[in-house]
Amino acid sequence: MRTQVGIIGAGPAGLFLSHLLKAQGIESVILEARSRPYVEGRVRAGVLEPGTIETLGRLGLDARMRREGLVDEGLDMRFRGRTIHLDLPGLTGKSVMIYGQQEVVKDLIAARVEAGDPLVFEAQVTRIEGIETDRPRIHYTEGGTDKVLECDFVAGCDGYHGAGRATMPQDILQVFEQVYDFAWLGVLARARPMPDMTYTNSDRGFALCSRRSMQVSRLYLQVPADTDPNSWSDDRFWDELHARMFDEGRTEIEEGEIFQRDLAKLRAFVAAPMQHGRLFLAGDAVHIVPPAGAKGLNMAVADVRVLSRALTEFYRTGSRAELEGYSTLCVERAWRVVRFSSTLTGLLHKFGHHTPMQRNLQLAELEYIAGSRNAQASIAEQYVMLNYLPDY
Ligand code: FAD
Ligand code: DHB
Repeated sequence: MRTQVGIIGAGPAGLFLSHLLKAQGIESVILEARSRPYVEGRVRAGVLEPGTIETLGRLGLDARMRREGLVDEGLDMRFRGRTIHLDLPGLTGKSVMIYGQQEVVKDLIAARVEAGDPLVFEAQVTRIEGIETDRPRIHYTEGGTDKVLECDFVAGCDGYHGAGRATMPQDILQVFEQVYDFAWLGVLARARPMPDMTYTNSDRGFALCSRRSMQVSRLYLQVPADTDPNSWSDDRFWDELHARMFDEGRTEIEEGEIFQRDLAKLRAFVAAPMQHGRLFLAGDAVHIVPPAGAKGLNMAVADVRVLSRALTEFYRTGSRAELEGYSTLCVERAWRVVRFSSTLTGLLHKFGHHTPMQRNLQLAELEYIAGSRNAQASIAEQYVMLNYLPDY
């Protein structure tokens, strides 16, 4: 098989890239290791920034999101039993959209399959060769048979454990990483959500109340990194959530059937450069942020917006200028996003090594934010706009 751009991975990065390229008349083939039901069923992020919403609109793939997504205009942060309310439109002129990552993924897969464009599931990439030549080759296994995809460019959109980053010459790749010793226990519950996205910093640890619809809440608790999600009974989950949210009277948070649980380990990770020869990396393959701030998916979309424009320029004019600028532009933005997510993580979580001095500094920072419109505007701007690329 031969194509112009061989894309590894049918997560948000690979799927958005394929649609953005197609809109410019550029062919691609996506190779995805997992099955379609597995990819569509993976529960992950849920907050879409304006840049991501706009990208879906530009591709004409936003109809279901507009119908079923929930516009979110507030971000609340609780501490000491008080709430800081960030009015997103008032502070930034913009809002975000709550629409599950797996719903975005379903919409992008459906459009690709309907158009008859190649997307091969259960195709595990084993090796990439020739990235320093004009004809790189992606080796993969499908149904027990070894196959090869020849292409002009390889897009490694294959996440943290993928083949893309592993193919980069290790002597040019710089890696920066911070692994946290806690995780987020996430659940989906059939319960009316809180009106606003609410983060809390409590003496018992962090919690977050988000939502997927007016009937489904998405809830998270900070837990030790080695927690088995099934070791928490439903009662224990609700007791802890009420306590951390300062809802001791149990009047505010509605309880309901918990029908899905998962554990997300927390890590900040940046690998650079994001390109070598004809191999370009995007999304979780090259940067991971801790989930506070809800940036991972949005950062992946911003990467492939830049990459698709650079590839378009190459196919239209033969110029490599934008392709050569891809890594610098995206790594610089990735650092800004990692900085924001890491700062929010530090502000809101309970750290085992914190001394009383550090705990008081954390609370003083929250007190400052509570009393300063400028501090609130800074957080709101970064929550909403950090991946915004008006020129792409
Ligand atoms: P992915 O979505 O990981 O897609 C990569 C794809 O490549 C996968 O489908 C994988 O199967 C495929 N692949 C891997 N190796 C190969 C191979 N060798 N051959 C072929 N295919 C391959 N972000 C938030 O903002 N909020 C959250 O609450 C949140 N929760 C998360 C929970 C978990 C458990 C994880 C892992 C991530 C979470 N994230 C969250 C981050 C967010 O979901 C990611 O940033 C986003 O999925 C990145 O998209 P991507 O396309 O780069 O990578
Ligand atoms: C979700 C929401 C967030 O604000 C966040 O930081 C992480 C995840 C969610 O709805 O899944």
